Amino acid sequence: MSQKTGAGRPARAREIGVGGFAAGARARRYVGEVLRSGRLSYGPFHRRFEEAFAAEHDCRHAAFCNSGTSALHVAVQALKEKHGWADGDEVLVPSVTFIATSNVALHNRLTPVFVDVDPRTYTIDPAQLAAKLTKRTRAVFPVHLLGLPADMDPVLDLARRKGLSVVEDSAETMFARYKGRKVGSLGDIGCFSTYVAHYIVTGVGGLTTTNDPDLHVRVRSLMNHGRDSIYLSIDDDAEATGARLHEIAARRFRFVSVGHSFRATELEAALGLAQLEEKDRIVRARLAMARRLSAGLKEFEDRLQLPYCPPDREHTFMLYGLVLRGEDKTALVNFLEDRGVETRDMMPLLNQPVYRRLFGDLEPRYPVARRLNRSGFYIGCHQYMTPKDADYVVAQFRAFFRRR
Ligand SMILES: Cc1ncc(COP(=O)(O)O)c(C=O)c1O
Repeated sequence: MSQKTGAGRPARAREIGVGGFAAGARARRYVGEVLRSGRLSYGPFHRRFEEAFAAEHDCRHAAFCNSGTSALHVAVQALKEKHGWADGDEVLVPSVTFIATSNVALHNRLTPVFVDVDPRTYTIDPAQLAAKLTKRTRAVFPVHLLGLPADMDPVLDLARRKGLSVVEDSAETMFARYKGRKVGSLGDIGCFSTYVAHYIVTGVGGLTTTNDPDLHVRVRSLMNHGRDSIYLSIDDDAEATGARLHEIAARRFRFVSVGHSFRATELEAALGLAQLEEKDRIVRARLAMARRLSAGLKEFEDRLQLPYCPPDREHTFMLYGLVLRGEDKTALVNFLEDRGVETRDMMPLLNQPVYRRLFGDLEPRYPVARRLNRSGFYIGCHQYMTPKDADYVVAQFRAFFRRR
């Protein structure tokens, strides 16, 4: 939150963004340790962050890299290589998500086939999956959107019956449970982001989680130029002697896949670990903010669709999604923006200029996505907002609805 008086822009009473960041004492201490250590490449903070993150999401393995998109990219590439998928094979992607979910299919020369979303949760509608299957379908990419897990059991059931892989795009959802199971542990592999405005902010960053040791080795290698897995960090020869050391020396500079330079540094890992160790406070604060927003906005429920969390899941509120009933949102979001409440469109995908150019006008075939593209948006719901901020946001909605 800050006051802005940009050129030509009237001063606002408040500025309430969709996210924030402040380095706490623990983060400063850990970053200081990294700087004093002189070690920036994969090292002790990576290992601690990955181990703690994997445990937190009920997984055996996590791998930290430089973005959520990179995590998704290597997850999909690893599955494609492991299962021998062909270029042009198809993957099922929700019609409402951040564009990176489907871009990674395109980058891996796979074809995204869109599936409309549920009108209340905005996550992939499992009832529509079967109709999208073809002989070339290889995977489903359910997205846990805005902090809410997708309805996973029907997705997993179909995947099991049809031999499909499941990549959970959990970039927007950390720590949440679906029927008691943690996001990131449900499919073959989960992908998270620690970019700004997420639960844990490392500037840039992302993680994969999996219980499959083979997939874990593959993604780690792909993040490191496709390097032979015998030597993925400079410590991997630390304890080796004799024949083992000679083998590592022979394979140290060998590359087994067309990989990427997707590594993060110890600085990001230190920031990540510090916030992960404080995650209970972060989640508690977000839930409290969501409750306060919902209590205040309830009186407008005939005009606004508020966030909905089915009883079988937890919502950890990375963002607070809203849909204006039966109306275009433009007047409302402009009203909020003018009063310092930052808004973002609720993950429009099919109407993006680049996708229109690639796929034509898909919107008429995806009525829920079309409605959300027209009327859906989200606002902040985070630990840097105060109760007063939430009340201010609610007051702006009240002012908008009363004046009409
Ligand atoms: C659903 C979804 N997938 C993927 C990403 C990409 O993450 P990053 O920005 O870290 O590359 C995001 C970004 O927030 C996202 O919301």
